[in-house]
Amino acid sequence: MIHITIDGREYDAEANQSVLEVLKANGIRIPTLCYHPALKPSGSCKLCAVEVPGRASGRKIAMLSCILKVKDGMEIRTTGELVERARTRAFKNLLQMAPQAETIVALAKSFGIAVGSPPDGCIRCRLCIRVCKEIVGPGALKMEQRNGQNFVVPIENLCIGCGTCANICPTRVIKVEDLENVRTISIRDQVIGRHPLERCEGCGRLFATPKFLEHIHRRTVAHADVKTHHRYCPTCAKLFSDRIKSVSDRSRR
Ligand code: SF4
Ligand code: FES
Repeated sequence: MIHITIDGREYDAEANQSVLEVLKANGIRIPTLCYHPALKPSGSCKLCAVEVPGRASGRKIAMLSCILKVKDGMEIRTTGELVERARTRAFKNLLQMAPQAETIVALAKSFGIAVGSPPDGCIRCRLCIRVCKEIVGPGALKMEQRNGQNFVVPIENLCIGCGTCANICPTRVIKVEDLENVRTISIRDQVIGRHPLERCEGCGRLFATPKFLEHIHRRTVAHADVKTHHRYCPTCAKLFSDRIKSVSDRSRR
């Protein structure tokens, strides 16, 4: 355990934590858009700047708290001129890429940052690309240069229709539309994947795509704790597992 100071107050921290993790654990507000606890930090959005003494000179500098690791005795400030300047610059850069992203404008406003008026709502944080590859697996999205600018684009036929990219996108620029029994996932005017939807074996609700269900089956079939495979929606799956648990609890008594 080490001790650090944030905005004049002392806090305990674990030696391997990032400054951002300590801030979040202690309820200290800091703007972030490219950070997700399940993924390695990428330092893309540059919003999470804090003020710390520079290693060599001791002069105050702004550093990205998602990448910066805590050190014993570290003095951190989350406000002040340096932080404000770094945040304003980061918000303006993001809004140059995503002028229509209302979430960014609102976030800037909530931190008292004045940004000018805000091409496609995407801030190039790569969360969608990273989560699809690192957590779900198919790797159905990539960054592609068009007219000198990077754009998130689909890789043909790899999408399995889970919608995780849309759920994680901080600017909500990826859309999932379930119409009748067809799910369409798209970004801007480009379709990432279009899939039929299957019904839950319990309640009959249309809930998931065949490719997603096959993917889950393949990933879990060899797991020692998985005894049977079913096609229940999350609500029915919870209901049935609660029932099985209460029956087994009763029989144990
Ligand atoms: S589409 Fe959304 S999640 Fe993907 S890079 Fe753009 S803003 Fe980030
Ligand atoms: S959270 Fe985006 S750079 Fe740190």
